[in-house]
Amino acid sequence: MPSARTALPAWQKLTEHQRAQSRLHLRERFDRDPGRFRKFSLTLEGMLLDYSKQRIEEETMRLLAELARECELEAWRTRMLTGARVNASEDRAALHVALRAGTPVRFEGQDVTREVAAVLADMRRFARGVRSGRIRGAAGRAFTDVLNLGIGGSDLGPRLACDALKHCSRSGPRAHFVSNVDGSAIADALARLAPATTLVVISSKTFGTQETLLNAAAVRAWLERGLKSKAVRHLCAVTADPERAAAFGVPADRIFRTWDWVGGRYSLCSAVGLPVALAIGMEHFDELRAGARAMDEHFAQAPLEKNLPVVMGLIEVWNVNFLGCGARAVLPYDERLRWLPAYLQQLEMESCGKSVTRDGARAGHATAPVTWGSVGTDSQHAYFQWFHQGSAVAPADFIACCRPHHRLRGHHQALLANFFAQTEALARGMDAEQAAAGMRAQGLQEAAVRSLLPHRVFDGNRPTTSILLDELTPRALGALIALYEHKVFVQSVIWNVNAFDQWGVELGKSLAGRILPELEGAVPVSTHDSSTNGLINTYLTRRRRT
Ligand code: F6P
Repeated sequence: MPSARTALPAWQKLTEHQRAQSRLHLRERFDRDPGRFRKFSLTLEGMLLDYSKQRIEEETMRLLAELARECELEAWRTRMLTGARVNASEDRAALHVALRAGTPVRFEGQDVTREVAAVLADMRRFARGVRSGRIRGAAGRAFTDVLNLGIGGSDLGPRLACDALKHCSRSGPRAHFVSNVDGSAIADALARLAPATTLVVISSKTFGTQETLLNAAAVRAWLERGLKSKAVRHLCAVTADPERAAAFGVPADRIFRTWDWVGGRYSLCSAVGLPVALAIGMEHFDELRAGARAMDEHFAQAPLEKNLPVVMGLIEVWNVNFLGCGARAVLPYDERLRWLPAYLQQLEMESCGKSVTRDGARAGHATAPVTWGSVGTDSQHAYFQWFHQGSAVAPADFIACCRPHHRLRGHHQALLANFFAQTEALARGMDAEQAAAGMRAQGLQEAAVRSLLPHRVFDGNRPTTSILLDELTPRALGALIALYEHKVFVQSVIWNVNAFDQWGVELGKSLAGRILPELEGAVPVSTHDSSTNGLINTYLTRRRRT
């Protein structure tokens, strides 16, 4: 049975339109229209979004905007930005924009930006105190290291920002991140740290996440061994449940709160960004928030056709639902953005990885593609073979900065040459005639040309979007993050899914809770399928042997 979305007039028109223009190669699109780049690129502050290498025409974008209007994107945008409970399955608002807003944002009659400002002021005082050495550890020594314990949205945002912006300030404590429940992660981190100079941030919206609490307990024990009863002076918490943090032993004045109306994966601009304020400086964290605010304002005000997050979201819908692409890569040509693919993987796949609509019906259309990626040029030497000649077509976002923070000009030129070359090669490819001419020019005999030719042809026509930033400043990073947050929201509206819940993570968590007592011998192992029983029993037997 068709879903309501696929029955929409614009959806039907897009299906027709796709059939009519599908044979047009990107090469031809560029050859026919020298104005293509100008037509299909947008700028905001120092960000250029070039989507001219997508398999689109003006009619495609017109129909996609029509689809957005039929899905009431503008009304949904207003609902989200004004504190409606758009996260219906959890009965919550999604007000991450209030974390960086310049004007009041009301939720249930209250201006929540006042609460936000109060927490930011606490963070500012605390970060300044730690960075200046005024706030010291129990042994009177300045904090040289900050260890963030959190997972998912309580880890990836600050991890990305601390890594991406470390060139902005080298004077603060070094930031470390441990997320995994694998004991080797925390053991390795603690081996590099000293209790007397380490400040620990326990970041968990719920303060109930197994991984974070186990790591926090291990670190508290480590601190206590070194600092005895004064260990708690090395603990801070970021949470929406301050009582739980206090019960764990975090001093009340070191608990920075966040709220139910901020989803974990949308929470970087809240106190979840505390490690950024500590390691890079609150002034840089404020600039990051200002960059996000600039993108929020653009998202709220720009017409759909000129709106960067809307255009990106609609292009993803086009690629997924009309071109049948099941994956999209994120390829930062910037080492400082190495955590961006992982960050976006959670943002995009946890938000739109749903097959049921807001009203509980089966969606009946594809939703979030696989999001993955890694930095260029490393990725070129790993899986770009698949991009260029594999049987599947996966669109990719290429991201680079015009000005690096280092002085190795030759490196940056080489990096950018690769960036430009890859998107051109993916779009244009190389036909048999060009491939044969190239081999002949290299002096290959005709027999060799004939046998190698099928391997040397590149189909091309592989869509990419390029994002060029002037420079990787905190403001630019904030804008980039907000760009993707809103892009995801746009897709969720078209796909009619709730971008702010994540029920799909619950089943595995609760089963792990049932299995743990079996591993501890508290209950017999017999309640699973034969595979799971077999695996558990093998583990129990082998564990005993070692
Ligand atoms: O299990 C998924 C999840 O709930 C994410 O959505 C969230 O970012 C992460 O776990 C961590 O949750 P918390 O901040 O409550 O520890």
